[in-house]
Amino acid sequence: MSEFPRRRMRRYRRDGVDDMVRETTVAEDDLVQPLFFDANLSEAEEIPSMPDVHRHPVEDAADRAAEVYDAGVPAVMVFGVPEEKDAEGSRAWAEEGVVQRSVREISEHVPGLVVITDLCLCAYTTHGHCGLVDDSGRVDNDATLPYLRNVAVSQAEAGADVVAPSGMMDGAVGEIRDALDGHGYDEVGVMSYSVKYASGFYGPFRDAQDSAPSHGDRTGYQMDPGNTREALMEARLDVREGADWLMVKPALPYLDVVSDVAGEFDVPVAAYNVSGEYAMLKAADQEGWLDAEETALESLTAIKRAGADTVITYFAEDLVRKL
Ligand code: PBG
Repeated sequence: MSEFPRRRMRRYRRDGVDDMVRETTVAEDDLVQPLFFDANLSEAEEIPSMPDVHRHPVEDAADRAAEVYDAGVPAVMVFGVPEEKDAEGSRAWAEEGVVQRSVREISEHVPGLVVITDLCLCAYTTHGHCGLVDDSGRVDNDATLPYLRNVAVSQAEAGADVVAPSGMMDGAVGEIRDALDGHGYDEVGVMSYSVKYASGFYGPFRDAQDSAPSHGDRTGYQMDPGNTREALMEARLDVREGADWLMVKPALPYLDVVSDVAGEFDVPVAAYNVSGEYAMLKAADQEGWLDAEETALESLTAIKRAGADTVITYFAEDLVRKL
């Protein structure tokens, strides 16, 4: 190939041509909007560290979900804030639990929307950990598994299409798959938060869901930010246990991991553009330092370019309205 001046890269950047050669686009079908429902609210409340994101009362679940669906977002990820917490997180699998009630409303009134439920105990336990805590204060992996089975079945009963275990308990995916199949929910999928790093970028979310641990941190079960081979092992174990999707989380600081996981496995890969990634852009936008919409679209394009099939993002609804 002859080089400059015969070859000019600018030819690709001419209006119209640029669209033809674009390798990666963000489509509305790729996006999942997280929604928070709070059993203690009668009116929506904005989350201070997540501008324009609200916690909604359960009574609004169907209307809120319909807004998202009508905007063109095909899926939601449902999180709950329970009326009370206890050591075992029993409101996580209660028939009248906040997620169960919300999901029932949504699946009845917005049948076309794909409903994914976050499956974890941390918002439901008094200690705020993702599993049961033993006498020494450690999270007891194996003792937690039967509880996760119950949560999965209760969410499927309520109408969840996909359950998304986010607690990083070893063996959880296999147990959940087994429990779902045992109760006739063989068509309910499992989106595993397989590669979830112990990240400071979850800070705003823990305000939203009131789920910060009361002692210690999550480094006993979430991953060390320095590790990639371990990420592949986490993903491999989950595929073998029956995960339908693998998730990498957070997204932007871990694009190399998204790329590696997407290259290695045949199942779809989701990436979670988490609360801290959202809050950074919104805060800078509020200061007039950058444009949140422009940088959000750029971020999502980068996440897709790295290999994600699905992106969970607080920007979903707004972006789809503009796409
Ligand atoms: C629950 C859970 C967390 C997030 C999703 N599910 C928080 C955590 O692990 O502390 C974070 C989502 C976000 O920051 O947007 N285990």
